[in-house]
Amino acid sequence: MSPVRPACVLVGLMGAGKTTVGTALAERLGVAFRDTDHDVEAVAGKPVSEIFIEDGEDRFRALERAAVATALETFGGVLALGGGAILAEETRARLAGHTVVFLSVELADAVKRVGLGAGRPLLAINPRATLRHLMSQRAPLYREVATHVVVTDGREPAEVTDEILALLKR
Ligand code: S3P
Repeated sequence: MSPVRPACVLVGLMGAGKTTVGTALAERLGVAFRDTDHDVEAVAGKPVSEIFIEDGEDRFRALERAAVATALETFGGVLALGGGAILAEETRARLAGHTVVFLSVELADAVKRVGLGAGRPLLAINPRATLRHLMSQRAPLYREVATHVVVTDGREPAEVTDEILALLKR
C-alpha cells in the first residue's frame, strides 16, 4: 500500500490566502482541507493566540512541528501550513518530495487581507511593519521548500485556484 501524502501543501505568509485558496482547491479536487493551526489548537485545547500568550511561541512551534509531521504522513487532502512552520529546519526537510505551493504576496495585499491581525498574535502590534519583517526573513525559506510559486497579488482566489489546479495536472 502506498503511503498517504497530501495532494498539495500550501505555504506562505499570513494573508497569502492559504485558507481561502486551500478550501477552494480541496473542493475542486474532491478532497478534504486541513490547516495545521487547527491541528495545534485541537491538541492544545485552545486557540493559537492563547497558546502564544499562556505557553509562549516556543511551545506553539513545538506543537506545530509535530502537527506538520503527522499531517504529512497521514493526510491525503490539501494541507495549509501556518505561516511560520517553515522556520523549522526539521519541517523544511520533511517537505522534500512533497508538492508544495508557495502562495506569494507582497506587503500591500497582505496588509489588506489580514486587516488588524485579529487572532494572529504576531500581528498584535504594528501588523504592517511586522509583515514586512517576516516577509524578508521568510521569503527565501518559502522558495526553498516550494515546488511551485504562485503569485496572488491583485488576483481573485478562483484565479489562483485555477492556476494551482493546472500545475497539479502537469
Ligand atoms: C504564524 C502564522 C499563523 C499561526 C501563528 C503564527 C506565523 O498562521 O500559525 O499565528 O508565524 O506566521 P497563518 O499563516 O495561517 O495565519
